[in-house]
Amino acid sequence: MPSHLPYIAISAFDIMALAAVIGALATGLWIIPEGARESFHRRLWRLTGLSLVALTVSSVVLLVGRTLEMSRQSLRHVGHWLPLVVRETSFGHIWMVRPVMLIVAWAAWFIGRRPARHRAAYGLLLAAAVIAFTRSATGHPADQGQWTAPEWVDFVHLMAASVWAGGLFAMTVAIFPLLPKAQLSTPVRLALVERLSSVAAIALAAILVTGVLSAYHYLGGLGPLFHSAYGHTLLVKLALVAIAIALGAANRFVFVPRIRAATPAPHNLSAPAHEADERAFSHLARSVAIETGFLGAALVAAAVLLHGMPPSEMAHTIGGTMARASQPAGRLEFTRFEDSRDAPVAPAISTIRYGVLRRSASQLSDRDAHWPRVDQRSL
Ligand code: HEM
Repeated sequence: MPSHLPYIAISAFDIMALAAVIGALATGLWIIPEGARESFHRRLWRLTGLSLVALTVSSVVLLVGRTLEMSRQSLRHVGHWLPLVVRETSFGHIWMVRPVMLIVAWAAWFIGRRPARHRAAYGLLLAAAVIAFTRSATGHPADQGQWTAPEWVDFVHLMAASVWAGGLFAMTVAIFPLLPKAQLSTPVRLALVERLSSVAAIALAAILVTGVLSAYHYLGGLGPLFHSAYGHTLLVKLALVAIAIALGAANRFVFVPRIRAATPAPHNLSAPAHEADERAFSHLARSVAIETGFLGAALVAAAVLLHGMPPSEMAHTIGGTMARASQPAGRLEFTRFEDSRDAPVAPAISTIRYGVLRRSASQLSDRDAHWPRVDQRSL
């Protein structure tokens, strides 16, 4: 387990960067009401840019991390292995989509610096969504092949989690601190928190449905939830999510109604916020900041899950079965490359999580003899 820590940290960093990009965009597009967009655009766009820097860095770090994880070599040898990973493995092929999407995202970011360019924000969101899909296509969901139901379920889960966790993060660092100075009328402020609450509720519904589907798929029943390391990590994640849900419910059913009650009557709509309103807002802002912290911890727990062995897949590896490429693609979890000299690899085998050499034995050159042999993750 300790040797997996750097890779877990890399996954967590990548997930958080992605969530920050998607959350900042979702905040600008769906949470900030029309009358407040001008006031927050610059700050939100700057946050989107910083998150995009993090996502660009995490994309490179992810490739290096996966290369080290697969080759079991030190950083000194990464120059040798990295081109091979990009050229020869399914992970590398899918990863190559990232630089393209990052270029699209950066172009959209530069175009969208002015508030009127709404389409740029949607373009950037689309690029981020494709990057999200590359995560699903190279994680556990891809173990049964590409474009399968588990991949789409995971993709929706990741997008909705990013909207919720990333959206609250954007509210905490970019919107709430600016609110007192923003000179918004109280109804616009009310609309802001009502929209925040609704977007969070829709995202949560999607997260729960897809989370339960994925959990059932990977656990294979209720028992392993309590009797496997994977299940225990999931329980920790569920506890964190439960706390975040409780805080979200308090926001929706306590703080937002308080703000609504403090909103002036319709004949006095342009009245500035009064003291009760300010207090309710600062309570809400604090609660949202704490909720963001718990969701951040849930994202880390998700990264731990990604590096664990799902019990339903473990079933395929016990009973002395050795992981070999001749097995149905994606059934087993590999931490190293398959040496396809032993078992001729069908070119179609490309879906195994960590990557498999895509050439048959006859196509192998002497250089390929250096590939480490396949190795099962310890159960
Ligand atoms: C009912 C609640 C939830 C359940 C049952 C659940 C379950 C799962 C499962 C089983 C996975 C798959 C892990 C794997 O590939 O081995 C997963 C992934 C993930 N979950 Fe959740 N989850 C829930 C809520 C959340 C929440 C609230 C968040 C956001 C903070 C979240 C964020 C993620 C992320 C980021 C991934 C990784 C997706 C990827 O990179 O492909 N989940 N979740």
